[in-house]
Parts: sequence; C-alpha cells; structure tokens
Amino acid sequence: MHPDTLSILCNPYNGEPLMLEDKTLVGVSSGQRFPIRKGIPSFVSVKHTPRRNRFWQWLYDRVAFAYDFVLKVGPRINYGTEQKVRQEYIANLEIESGAKILEVGVGSADNFQFLPVNCDCYGLDISWNMLLRAQRNLTTWGRSAQLFHADGQYIPFHDNTFDLVFQMAVLQHYADPFIGIREMARTTKPGAAVIVIDEVSAAQRTFKRLPAHAQFARDKASALEALPRLVPHGMRDIKAEILPSGEFYALEFRKPT
Ligand SMILES: C[S@@+](CC[C@H](N)C(=O)[O-])C[C@H]1O[C@@H](n2cnc3c(N)ncnc32)[C@H](O)[C@@H]1O
Repeated sequence: MHPDTLSILCNPYNGEPLMLEDKTLVGVSSGQRFPIRKGIPSFVSVKHTPRRNRFWQWLYDRVAFAYDFVLKVGPRINYGTEQKVRQEYIANLEIESGAKILEVGVGSADNFQFLPVNCDCYGLDISWNMLLRAQRNLTTWGRSAQLFHADGQYIPFHDNTFDLVFQMAVLQHYADPFIGIREMARTTKPGAAVIVIDEVSAAQRTFKRLPAHAQFARDKASALEALPRLVPHGMRDIKAEILPSGEFYALEFRKPT
C-alpha cells in the first residue's frame, strides 16, 4: 500500500482514521483490525455484509478464474456489450491529469485500461479472487492502481476524497442500492461526478425487489425514468440515459460545491 493512502482510508464501519501496524490497519479508537494481504487491505466483515452481498461475493469468488475469458469471447458471440461501453463511454470521460478516481466493483480492472495513464486509480471489490485477477491484469498491462477488498455499501475512504467515483455492472448486486450510491456520493469531492453504469434490464430487476418502487419495474422506460430516485437528496445535474449500445444505462450526477 502506498504510504499516502493511509491518510484517505478510514474504518468503513465507524469512519475513524486508521493507523498502520506491521501488515495490519488498525482503527485508532476501536482497535478494529483489517489485514493487508498481497498488498490489498481487506475490510470485508461477515458481521456487516448483507446476506445478498455475501452471495455475490461467494459467486464472483468462484467465477473469477473464467471472468476475463467470458469478457473476451462474449462480444464475439454477440453476448454482452461491456467492451463497447468501455470504448464509447469510459474512454471518453473527460478526466484531468492527476485526477483521483475510484471504481467500485472493479472486477478484473478492465475499465482501468480505458482511463488516462496519468490518473490515480483506486479499485475496490467484494470478491477477493476478482481482485487477484485485477492485480495480475494490471501487472500484464503495466498499469498501476491500488486495490481494496471492501463492500461498496461500506466504502473505506474518508468523505470528499475522489475527483470521480464510478461503477459498472455492480448496482444490480447490492442489497441496498440507495446506500451504495450514497457511499459513492460521500466519498466524492464537492463539485465532482458520480457515475453508475448498469444494464437497463437490471434496473428493472432492482426496482422490482424494492417494495416501494416495484411500479417502476414494468418496462425499461419506467425504470430509466425512476433511476434519479436512487440519487441522494441535494445532488445536482442528475441525468439518466441509455448508452448507444442499447443494453446499458448511465446515471450521472454531481455533488454540490
Ligand atoms: C459484472 S462484474 C463488473 C466488473 C467491472 N466493473 C467491469 O466493468 O468489468 C461485477 C463486480 O462487482 C463486484 N461486486 C458485487 N457486489 C459488490 C459489492 N457489494 N461491493 C463491491 N463489489 C461488488 C463483483 O465481485 C464483481 O467483480
């Protein structure tokens, strides 16, 4: 872990700063301990992780070995348009040199290939095995990024840390998408952007399992219209659109200054 990183990390369960003791991060007042293994700090706690999130952690830990293969072959057999979204959307984000960027649910770090090399990349994921894939890929590509083992509903960074926080194909997995997006907004700097990209069909499924929002699951148009409801109160420039490839939407907003 980079020495400066300690100043932006916090205990995701109570917000306290952390200190480094050998290969462990320790909460300054609670004494709660988070191990660093293979250079990756691990914050996932069974006690705090909702059952649904634990299921996806379990599943991605098991499929991680085949994930890159599916990404590579998928578009060739007309299955999945993730690579198109990376080329058309992620690669065209206007990112200033030196920007600090967090990807929540980084997976095998594929999106980092499409970000400018001069930005400061951070990725977190609930699946340890996906992070190991990300670590291997980054070495192969000669890219540097810092990785963290954490639940997107408990982001282990202080408020107002990043110039951009984004995620792709992750929101559908959350037990509580409201908390997940609130965490992204909390860790974004004032004036900076939060971007959530996911499948349109997944948005329908997400609304279907939220009893107060089930009416927005009837069709893709209603789901798209309802996406801004997931954004925390007080955010500005809220925009939801279907991306040109047709399968994915992007929900964007800015934190007020
Ligand atoms: C479909 S993959 C997308 C990976 C990457 N964002 C991409 O575009 O290739 C979903 C990723 O989200 C991660 N994930 C699922 N639930 C999560 C959660 N609650 N917190 C953090 N990561 C999560 C999974 O482990 C997996 O790596």
